[in-house]
Amino acid sequence: MSELNCGFPKDFLWGGATAANQLEGGYNEGGKGLSTADVMTSGTHTKPRRITSTIEEGAYYPSHEAIDFYHRYKEDIKLFAEMGFKVFRMSIAWSRIFPNGDDTEPNEEGLKFYDNVFAELKKYNIEPLVTLSHYEAPYQLTVKYNGWANKKVIDFYVRYCEVVFNRYKDVVKYWLTFNEINALTSAFGTFMAGAMQIDNDEFNTGLDDDRQEMRYQALHNQFIASAKAVKLGHQINPDFKIGCMIVNMCSYPLTCHPDDILLTQQQTNMFNNLCGDVQVRGAYPNFAKKYFERNNININMVPGDEQILAEGKVDFYAFSYYMSCCISADPEKVKGKGNVFGGVPNPYLKSSDWGWQIDPVGLRYTLNEVYNRYQVPVMVVENGLGAMDTVEEDGSINDDYRIDYLKAHIKAMKEAINDGVDLIGYTPWGCIDLISASTGEMKKRYGFIYVDKDNEGNGTLNRSKKKSFYWYKDVISTNGADEIL
Ligand code: BG6
Repeated sequence: MSELNCGFPKDFLWGGATAANQLEGGYNEGGKGLSTADVMTSGTHTKPRRITSTIEEGAYYPSHEAIDFYHRYKEDIKLFAEMGFKVFRMSIAWSRIFPNGDDTEPNEEGLKFYDNVFAELKKYNIEPLVTLSHYEAPYQLTVKYNGWANKKVIDFYVRYCEVVFNRYKDVVKYWLTFNEINALTSAFGTFMAGAMQIDNDEFNTGLDDDRQEMRYQALHNQFIASAKAVKLGHQINPDFKIGCMIVNMCSYPLTCHPDDILLTQQQTNMFNNLCGDVQVRGAYPNFAKKYFERNNININMVPGDEQILAEGKVDFYAFSYYMSCCISADPEKVKGKGNVFGGVPNPYLKSSDWGWQIDPVGLRYTLNEVYNRYQVPVMVVENGLGAMDTVEEDGSINDDYRIDYLKAHIKAMKEAINDGVDLIGYTPWGCIDLISASTGEMKKRYGFIYVDKDNEGNGTLNRSKKKSFYWYKDVISTNGADEIL
């Protein structure tokens, strides 16, 4: 192979990604407290999930059992090992460690659970990649403090990080501070920050401008918490690699009209670049300061905040990538359906059954944009196709559509590496079927491993291998060789 066309590096981290609230279940076992995810009912593509202030009798809460990894982690990790995973992205449920968030002592049973999970991963030489907060927080922090809108939550988070960093310092090297931190600038992410109205149907709707100030305050508080965690983590173990995690919305101008181009630049700055700039470069970019000024957004920054951000720069840039969208300055253009972060549909692309537009070239483009902007190692920690699967009479699941999607995106990553991007790992989302974050459904499946469970919670929870399981195993064992792609 020529140096110009070298493909995946030999120590490339192939694996898969999950999150505690969509995977574990055992929502009230082992001393775990309620998390914000535990008060979200199930929805569908067209019917938003509901957030309830208490657990309602008769309502279905998908996180409560999820796919029961809490009891089945050994079986699942064995299957990951069979595929040849080098890395497994998972999250720690904060409310397993600090059930109320503001407790002074951690819950030993919760810590023990993750001791066991990490030991099992080590058995197969699978490196854990741990998200410290993946779309959930202890629910009591919402009730008592209005979640991340309140600066007090920073200290609770840092205390939680200190406990898990110390406990797992010899078994976990790769960490992510917050999942899709920039989702906080949208309604979708606000509840995850534990700061929004309860008992409403707004989970899956668009931007709610009158709450912008609160969202950006919550985001600022997360920036400070993340920076403090990075600094602390490096003190506890200088070998830690701690990354940011951003939902990277690849946006194209719908037309070459200069207004479309300018708007795309502005939206990309505020949605993608703001968080990367603060977390990788350690300071707010000017475009954000001006946006806050123009929109009368006053963020409560205290003396010392700037220094904290400057001292807490992340080691690598991780992001999720599922789709791209188009931006139009013409208000008449229809909003893209099913794309959680809005945008206008791209006439050149096909969509998934949930309306997410499939664009592997956009991944190559994004990788180049990110790496050229920040020049730090990059990891794609989520990517994949949410689709309905059919189990044939003989039990097989022939998910060629998923293979096609992943193949095209892996090829795009390979091209990006050949463009010069320092890409170090790939963990496709939902390597085992799990609960959808946006809809709470089970039938929106991403996995290589099928889990027998339906949208209403019925099923044996048995695991079986899909066609993509064998294909991905080959991808890993050949390090993404051309003949597999
Ligand atoms: C990302 C989240 O936004 O996308 C995951 O980090 C989520 O938690 C994934 O599951 C896919 O989205 P969905 O809504 O199809 O589950």
